[in-house]
Amino acid sequence: MLKQYADHWALVTGASSGIGTEFARGLAARGMHLVLTARRREELEVLAEELHTRHGTRCLIIPGDLNLPEFPEQLIAETRRQKITIELLVNNAGFGMADTIENTDRKRVLDMLQVNMVALTNLTYLVLPEMLERRSGAVLNVSSISAFQPVAYMPAYSASKAYILHFSEALWAEARSRKVTVMALCPGVTSTNFFEIAGVGGWLKKHRSHTPEYVVRVALKALDKRRQYYVPGIRNYILTLASRIATRRTVVQSSMKYFRPRKKKNDDKK
Ligand SMILES: NC(=O)c1ccc[n+]([C@@H]2O[C@H](COP(=O)([O-])OP(=O)(O)OC[C@H]3O[C@@H](n4cnc5c(N)ncnc54)[C@H](OP(=O)(O)O)[C@@H]3O)[C@@H](O)[C@H]2O)c1
Repeated sequence: MLKQYADHWALVTGASSGIGTEFARGLAARGMHLVLTARRREELEVLAEELHTRHGTRCLIIPGDLNLPEFPEQLIAETRRQKITIELLVNNAGFGMADTIENTDRKRVLDMLQVNMVALTNLTYLVLPEMLERRSGAVLNVSSISAFQPVAYMPAYSASKAYILHFSEALWAEARSRKVTVMALCPGVTSTNFFEIAGVGGWLKKHRSHTPEYVVRVALKALDKRRQYYVPGIRNYILTLASRIATRRTVVQSSMKYFRPRKKKNDDKK
């Protein structure tokens, strides 16, 4: 890798929307064939059709729920059954949730940790040893700018993304001398369904955002350079530096303004 994308296979999780769909498009444009996965089969089928028409991409669709502990293994078993060698794994699937402690749905938090951390870890260890043996390949794990600081009202989400950053950087250090790279991508606000799903739909209208197309374009360039992590956008990068200089107390307290839930009308009457 990494300039040799053409005719190799990439596996993209969370390919049914947002950043994952754009990764599929960007990699197909570089001549890669794709294994596409997410829960929504129809979106994957429409995408596969588009990529085949535009680039002649071969796509294998394996729909499934990464919240199920057995799915990552089934996914990789199916690619092996089809004699596909995964040259690039893009662990992109994930979601967030923002709320107060009292209103947090505990079961949903656990589901989120399963998808954001456990499934990602499982898939990484399912493909990395073979890449090291072949002495080629790459894993791109989608973390977030929130990996650099605790975020009030999103404690488990920001911690899950910090896990991805640390996990990926440690693997990068171990794998790099063996011609395999692991990169954590840490996007800032990106215009996708993410905020709607996290329960803060209005967020995007009020903040500057990158398009998923931009995020993927610069991410693939960073992957070419074998960066261990990458933060798209200079403003986002400066924010990550600022959070390292300020005291931890200042950083976490200042995060309270981001996702503080609005008071519901009835709250005042209680
Ligand atoms: N948007 C941002 O501002 C932002 C910033 C930093 C990091 N990120 C990260 O970027 C990644 C992609 O998010 P996005 O912004 O593109 O949001 P998105 O449009 O909501 O995409 C999320 C993707 O994850 C998949 N997914 C969610 N739960 C899943 C599950 N249980 N099993 C399998 N797939 C699942 C979804 O597919 P199905 O619903 O079809 O299963 C969808 O394809 C996430 O890891 C997110 O944390 C986003």
